[in-house]
Amino acid sequence: MIKNDLFLRILKGETTERPAVWMMRQAGRYLPEFRALRDKYDFFTRCRTPELVADITTQPVDIVGVDAAILFSDILVVPQAMGIEIEMKEQVGPFLPHPIRSEADIERVEIPDVSHALGYVMDGIRLTKERLAGSVPLIGFAGAPWTIFCYAVEGKGSKNFDVAKSFAFSHPEWAHSLLQKITDTTIAYLKEKVKAGVDALQLFDSWGGVLSPEDYRLYSWRYTQQIVEALSEQVPVIVFAKGCWYALQEMSQSKAAALGIDWSCSPAVARQLTGGKKVLQGNLDPAWLLSSPELIKEKTWQMIRSFGKEHYIANLGHGILPHVPVAHAQAFVEAVKTFKE
Ligand code: CP3
Repeated sequence: MIKNDLFLRILKGETTERPAVWMMRQAGRYLPEFRALRDKYDFFTRCRTPELVADITTQPVDIVGVDAAILFSDILVVPQAMGIEIEMKEQVGPFLPHPIRSEADIERVEIPDVSHALGYVMDGIRLTKERLAGSVPLIGFAGAPWTIFCYAVEGKGSKNFDVAKSFAFSHPEWAHSLLQKITDTTIAYLKEKVKAGVDALQLFDSWGGVLSPEDYRLYSWRYTQQIVEALSEQVPVIVFAKGCWYALQEMSQSKAAALGIDWSCSPAVARQLTGGKKVLQGNLDPAWLLSSPELIKEKTWQMIRSFGKEHYIANLGHGILPHVPVAHAQAFVEAVKTFKE
């Protein structure tokens, strides 16, 4: 039993007293408590130590008052478990010493036994659930296969992922075989996460928006949809595809329980493309949290009015920025909780 199940009731399609609220990347650098642990333990040690996972995951619940926790981990633990070496460089981000660049590289990529290779994630989930003690639901997540492919091939972060795209467009057969391996691993991984106790799932397609509508369908949505099909009977699945407003209509016809919206799409257009009743999540530009508590409240109320307070989960349009004052994150959450028409 979960005491505050507002988030889950909205995902089931119920109408509720107010929108639920959480923030993408809410377990992160804007919290001094997070920075204290970051200074002591490197990134993947934090991901692999259940006590640290539980501490970091519950920090924003206790400090900011969000209606859902999202497990502290990373989308890149999946390709790592598939035998792709990944480093997290301080101030830089992910770095892959041996990115995927050939058919032989793809053949070497393993489909691991996830319960073993990613068992530490499941231990983290079990401990976090214990720690949450039914206060709020726990969200598990994975990267969409296309976004994982982007990092695996490009080898690092990028503005446009030109290397990954040109690899996919020049060698579509190889690309599809890698995308399918990632998809199969992700499905097995998320099924384990559900068994370990997560209450909902979110798929992050952070780099879907570098593709054209036609290529998005071919290289990304096709695979994301397989994951949605495989998991949506078990728990609600949220799909966040950044920069992919053009695909909202098609995505709204899937079994995804909710769709994430970024700030490049207005609430009115998002509602229109998704037929009005689909649960939507988003979409405040994260940079607004750097303004003032007064402005944050005004922008947040305006956003809720535009989406409508039903079938709606308030969130940012992408991850929270590192320099946001904690009081501003609190002001965002408080604005949602005190919303008046
Ligand atoms: O939402 C949460 O608070 C849960 C934790 C979470 C992290 N990564 C922790 C993290 C989640 C949901 C992610 C997802 C993730 N990871 C995405 C998709 C969401 C998005 O922002 O688009 C992507 C693309 C990644 C890959 C990744 N991990 C990058 C590009 C970076 C470096 C850039 C950055 O934000 O620092 C990371 C590192 C990372 N993952 C950090 C955190 C808290 C920061 C580094 C650190 O803590 O040492």
